[in-house]
Amino acid sequence: MKVIVVKDYEEASQKAFEVMKDYLKPGKVLGLATGSTPLGLYKLMIEDHEKNGTDYKDIHTYNLDEYVGLPLNHRESYYSFMHANLFDHIGIPEENTHVPSGLGDLEENCRRYDEMIADEPVDIQLLGIGADGHIGFNEPGTPFDSGTHVTDLTEQTRKDNLRFFKDLGEEVPTQAVTMGLKTIMAARNVLLIATGENKAEAVKGLIEGPVSTECAASVLQQHPSTIVIIDEAAGKLLEKK
Ligand code: PGA
Repeated sequence: MKVIVVKDYEEASQKAFEVMKDYLKPGKVLGLATGSTPLGLYKLMIEDHEKNGTDYKDIHTYNLDEYVGLPLNHRESYYSFMHANLFDHIGIPEENTHVPSGLGDLEENCRRYDEMIADEPVDIQLLGIGADGHIGFNEPGTPFDSGTHVTDLTEQTRKDNLRFFKDLGEEVPTQAVTMGLKTIMAARNVLLIATGENKAEAVKGLIEGPVSTECAASVLQQHPSTIVIIDEAAGKLLEKK
């Protein structure tokens, strides 16, 4: 695991873009994430597409997760999020993009999702981290050998995500479909970004904690090619500076 410490969110996004740039090439498969963390990186990818014409026609993408029960066109579905914040601005064909479906036969959706990823392995998986150490929606206690599956969201996660649903007067869904830890670990390369003090504990578990399902992200200590980009606030509990 390579850890890069930067000053703030902006610098983290910039560094992440430098890493990502190497994978913005025909034939590459990107594993993508939602949430506040990747927004800065996505802005830089859009800017780069507009300025330099980086072509996404032969790039495929797989997102980490999706809420169960939200219609695709719900403002807070991760399908909508990805279209609004990236896909609609980089000229990527719809059929190249994949977001797990939280509607219909969930077991079947999960099985198919893992099958598709096994057929075209992810070259680089982008990750944020939850305050409880989750990656994707793999909450504490998720087995390391889990494939894509349906999960209950913890109170902490639902509280953290309330900010997105509050103004709609809605509750945060209680379940999600998520790539499992085994699915994530199968990616050839992993790029995790964490910024802000509220991530400090999770970052400590990720980098210095025991490899334990109590901090799902700690499994990445066993991944052969992971880059972690953190800002100073997220790194403040680390013993090794
Ligand atoms: P955030 O979420 O980027 O909105 O902080 C990260 C996560 O929950 O994985």
